[in-house]
Amino acid sequence: QEVALIKVPFGLAGARNGAELGPDELITAGLKREIASLGFPLNREVRVDCPAQSATPLGRKTVKYLNEVQQVSEHVCQEVASALEEGAFPVVLGGDHSVAIGTLAGLTAHYNNLGVIWFDAHADLNTEEHSLTGNMHGMSVAAFLGHSTFNLSQIKGAGSFVHPSNLVYIGLRDVDDYEKEQIRALGIRAFTMHDIDRMGMQHVIDQAMVIAGDGTEGIHVSFDMDCLDPREAPGVGTPVPGGLSYREAHFAMECLAANNRVVSMELVEVNPLLDQNRHTARLGVGLIASLLGKSIL
Ligand code: ARG
Ligand code: MN
Ligand code: MN
Ligand code: MN
Repeated sequence: QEVALIKVPFGLAGARNGAELGPDELITAGLKREIASLGFPLNREVRVDCPAQSATPLGRKTVKYLNEVQQVSEHVCQEVASALEEGAFPVVLGGDHSVAIGTLAGLTAHYNNLGVIWFDAHADLNTEEHSLTGNMHGMSVAAFLGHSTFNLSQIKGAGSFVHPSNLVYIGLRDVDDYEKEQIRALGIRAFTMHDIDRMGMQHVIDQAMVIAGDGTEGIHVSFDMDCLDPREAPGVGTPVPGGLSYREAHFAMECLAANNRVVSMELVEVNPLLDQNRHTARLGVGLIASLLGKSIL
């Protein structure tokens, strides 16, 4: 299968500057070499045009950069949808996690039912009215479930919302009160760090594939680098102690590769300004390679 690389250098919806440098950093860290050595031809390599600052002053608005997120979402949606039309496997490179809104829009244009495995320290389930920060990278899940005011239905070409019973979280450890209520009320399956400690990544990822795969046409893997422990991945904008180890993350990707149901992936929140020796970007490249089927032997 061909791989479509979709670079989204957008960081305005994050908590600090630098995520917009993520796509180039991942390329510099050797991503294209890895993909080529796994034997995947590149279907395309596109760079989505992203605003680097707001056209209008921020003021005291509660939701930051809504117009910019909207514009980027439309473009990412188009790129993902057209890659899928050609039968390619989209690999979307963020950028902050708001790029997932466009990715999911493009995926739902193509697939009627989609499972999502969301690797993250955070739930990204806030709405405009419940967010404590106004940062839209904390609202992407709400947008593809249809809970936020800005959601998939506002994006040209997007399909239907993801069903909460086909969404799985892995790695949670910093969840806002409203998000906790929502997870409970909607019955979303969430494997927190506590669950991973208790039952191990093998059991967690097996369960996750069942839930995300149940009645769906495919599984999307959305990978926020802050799911990893900050000792492994210091270059992220919102680090939280007590995260996934190097092997837990790789093992999860290896299992997903073997399962064959994954139709796309995105890797987000690499922040080169906060990284040490390109460590986080190199780890990101390795994780993408594992998901694409790179094995140890
Ligand atoms: N819950 C916090 C917020 O809504 C943090 C979100 C962090 N999200 C992320 N993609 N890193 O602002
Ligand atoms: Mn345009
Ligand atoms: Mn996130
Ligand atoms: Mn996060």
